[in-house]
Amino acid sequence: MKTQVGIIGAGPAGLFLALLLQRLGIESVVLEAHTRNYVEERVRAGVLEYGTVELMHELGVGERLRRQGLEHGGIELRFGGAGHRIDFRELTGGKCVTIYAQHEVIKDLIAARLAANRPILFAAENVSVHGLDGERPTIQFQMNGAPEKLECDFVAGCDGFHGVCRPSIPANALTIYDREYPFGWLGILAQAPPSSHELIYAYHERGFALLSMRSPEISRLYLQCEPDEHIAGWPDERIWEELHKRLAADGWKLTEGAIMQKGVTGMRSFVTEPMQFGKLFLAGDAAHIVPPTGAKGLNLAVADVRVLSRALGEFYASGKTGLLARYSDICLRRVWKVQRFSWWMTSLLHRFPDGNPFDRRRQLAELDYVTSSRAAAQTLAENYVGLPME
Ligand code: APR
Ligand code: PHB
Repeated sequence: MKTQVGIIGAGPAGLFLALLLQRLGIESVVLEAHTRNYVEERVRAGVLEYGTVELMHELGVGERLRRQGLEHGGIELRFGGAGHRIDFRELTGGKCVTIYAQHEVIKDLIAARLAANRPILFAAENVSVHGLDGERPTIQFQMNGAPEKLECDFVAGCDGFHGVCRPSIPANALTIYDREYPFGWLGILAQAPPSSHELIYAYHERGFALLSMRSPEISRLYLQCEPDEHIAGWPDERIWEELHKRLAADGWKLTEGAIMQKGVTGMRSFVTEPMQFGKLFLAGDAAHIVPPTGAKGLNLAVADVRVLSRALGEFYASGKTGLLARYSDICLRRVWKVQRFSWWMTSLLHRFPDGNPFDRRRQLAELDYVTSSRAAAQTLAENYVGLPME
């Protein structure tokens, strides 16, 4: 098999890239380790920056998003038992975010790709990459036990944090920046109408809590927990009890419902530099991880592949390699700004196990500042709705 761009991974990075390249008339093959059903049902985050929403419409995959997405013109920061709204529209000249689950985005992208009769090979086994620093890299894998080989001009490593692409780069060619946080998030999906129209990020002495949603019938809620928390220690009643305590505010009530799904995720900040080696270009979680507090993971993956598709477009249209050579530098400027924002939101809102009373008073002062200074609120808002693309 031959193609122009071999894309490893059918997450947001791989699928957006495939559609962006399709639009430029560039051939690609997407290889995915899991089944279609698995990737379409995997529960992930659900906040789309306005630029990500625009891109979905541009690519012609925004029809369900238009009908089912929930536009949010702000968020609430809750502390000291009171809520404080950050008004995105007012602070950013009319921009907002849209709540639409990542796995719904995935369904829309896969449907569009398959409707155009372009290949996604699901359940590809033992994927490996070869000849990255040569003229024609290859991807080897197995389908139903039979060995296969895909020759390409370029490989896009869109295979997430635990994929094979980043580890295929010689260690001495990369610098890794890494920070783990001393807490995780326990997340639930509940059959309960959201108790607020907008997301609530709550700072509490018992730890952070977040109220989010998926639809007018389904709430998504998170609690700060130990990084290696055992979900078995959290029967439903304990989860609700804790959410009630951390989200408490005068005159406000949290609506409970049947818990349909629960799980624990760790939190880290991670950056690989550069995001390229020879003919391999890393994008999305394969190159960087942010803690989920700023809701940036999916949006940052999308920003990477916008840059990559432009660079590949330039190459195939004119033979020029200028943008490809700058891919990593262009992406990393945004990556580090988004890292900073995600780290900042995380530091602002969580209780740190080694934090002393001084740290907690400082956090409260910062929350007070962010919710009372227009300049500070605007900084949060412009980052949350998404910085402009370079
Ligand atoms: N071969 C083929 N596919 C692979 C391999 C492999 N060896 N390893 C991983 N994959 C697939 C995964 O099954 C997954 O479907 O690559 C895909 C990577 O997708 P994501 O993990 O969603 O990463 P990305 O597309 O970069 O999107 C980042 O998704 O993980 C969330 O929170 C994250 O929102 C962020 C966004
Ligand atoms: C979510 O809805 O899953 C969500 C929302 C906001 C975040 C993180 C996750 O910051």
